[in-house]
This record gives sequence, C-alpha cells and structure tokens, in this order.
Amino acid sequence: MVTSLDGAVAAGGRGSQGLSTPADRELFRSVRRAADVVLVGAGTARDENYRGVRPRRPGPDGADPGPPPPVAVVTGSAALDPAAPLFTDTTTAPIVLTTAAAPAARRAALAAAGAEVVALADLAPGTLLAELGRRGLREVLCEGGPTLLGALVAADAIDELRLTLVPVLAGGPAGRIAGGPDAVPLRRMELVGQLAAPDGTLLLHYRRATRPPNE
Ligand SMILES: NC(=O)c1ccc[n+]([C@@H]2O[C@H](COP(=O)([O-])OP(=O)(O)OC[C@H]3O[C@@H](n4cnc5c(N)ncnc54)[C@H](OP(=O)(O)O)[C@@H]3O)[C@@H](O)[C@H]2O)c1
Repeated sequence: MVTSLDGAVAAGGRGSQGLSTPADRELFRSVRRAADVVLVGAGTARDENYRGVRPRRPGPDGADPGPPPPVAVVTGSAALDPAAPLFTDTTTAPIVLTTAAAPAARRAALAAAGAEVVALADLAPGTLLAELGRRGLREVLCEGGPTLLGALVAADAIDELRLTLVPVLAGGPAGRIAGGPDAVPLRRMELVGQLAAPDGTLLLHYRRATRPPNE
C-alpha cells in the first residue's frame, strides 16, 4: 500500500498511481514476483483499470519462472466489465470471488470473458483465503483497496505489510489504507525492513509482531 505523509491513499483522480514513485513501482513489481495470487477488491480493479500480472522474466540461470500469478477480484455485485483489461489483457485467467447473490447474467458474462467465477457462501476473509488455499494459492498478496484491507485487518489476517510513504501532503477527501465500519483491536506489527529512496520515498516492511508489547 502507498500513502502520502498525511495518510491519503489516492490522489489526482488516479488512485494510488497518483501517489506512486519509481521506488514504489519497483517494489510493487518485485513483491508480485513472489506471490501465488494477487487479491484485490473490485473497487480498486475498477478504479485502477486492473490488467493481468505481466509474465515473469527467467532467472539468471535461465530457469523458467512459471506463469504469472492470477489476479483474484473480490466482488459482491460482480459488476465488472468483461471488456476490461483484467479479462482481455492477461496471460493467466483471473479469478472472480463472488456469491450466488450476484446477478447470474453478470457472472456468466465474466466466465465467458475467460474468468474463473467462484460463487462462495460469503466473502468473509476466512472464506476467501480458504478458497485460495484450496487452489494451492497460499502466498496471497493483497493490493487493497481500503475496504478489502480493512476486512482483512478486522479478521486479523495480515501477516506482513509493505507500506510506501511518499513525501507529499495530499489533503482532500482521500481515505486511509484500511477502513471499515467497526473498531477492531490494535494489530501489532514490527518493522523488519526499511529503505529510503533518493527522492525521499520510504519503503517500510512490517511483519506481525511476535514480541509482547513494551519489550
Ligand atoms: N494507496 C494504495 O496503496 C491503494 C491501493 C488500492 C486501492 N487504492 C485506492 O482505493 C480506492 C478504492 O477503495 P475501495 O475501498 O473501494 O477499494 P476495494 O476494497 O478495492 O473495493 C471495494 C469493493 O470491493 C468489493 N469488496 C471488497 N472487499 C469485500 C468484502 N470483504 N466483501 C464484499 N465485497 C468486498 C466490493 O465490490 P462490489 O461493489 O463489486 O460488490 C466493494 O464495493 C481507489 O481510489 C484506489 O485507487 C489505493
């Protein structure tokens, strides 16, 4: 996730891309390389015009890096455009995680566009992660947005956070990286890596804390 110094997650009408810097984009690509699946909320997929993950380059030894991870989109409405790059500009079939309450015609249109459409009992984080795990997709990279990330925080399902702090003040109405209707207990994280880029971008890497507080 990327944020301005004053906590905005979107800027300039371009979502996170209005904030991102070269160092953030480099990190974004490298984290994607290690993921089994990219999990994203439908709001972000729509606003940021998501497309499939680009094929990975062979390693220095020429080893085949395998196919790129699929993008799995969480949507209650299944209101995604079958002509969007998510379906047309990808080498790996996207996964649409929805429920049987989503209109059947929309689900059928997304399946016809090449997606694997999965009607789950609900879209609670535990259900989503269990479904991905069932497919052998255990290294889950959630790229937001705030609604989905907030649900994962509430479910205490975040093991790591890559947070990019961009040296700008954005003001305005943009929200923060995770939101939700209800207060949740604080989830303690510990800093395990940090890098300052020459332009002042701060790349922060946190993991779920293992030490008790105040130690
Ligand atoms: N700064 C960053 O790093 C960053 C990262 C990602 C996104 N963003 C920005 O965040 C904004 C989008 O925010 P958002 O909160 O709308 O994003 P979001 O979480 O990507 O999308 C919310 C939508 O996703 C579906 N959804 C997500 N979680 C769900 C759940 N647990 N249960 C049911 N449905 C769920 C619903 O889709 P349906 O409406 O289809 O039912 C919901 O309306 C954009 O401006 C984007 O650019 C910023």
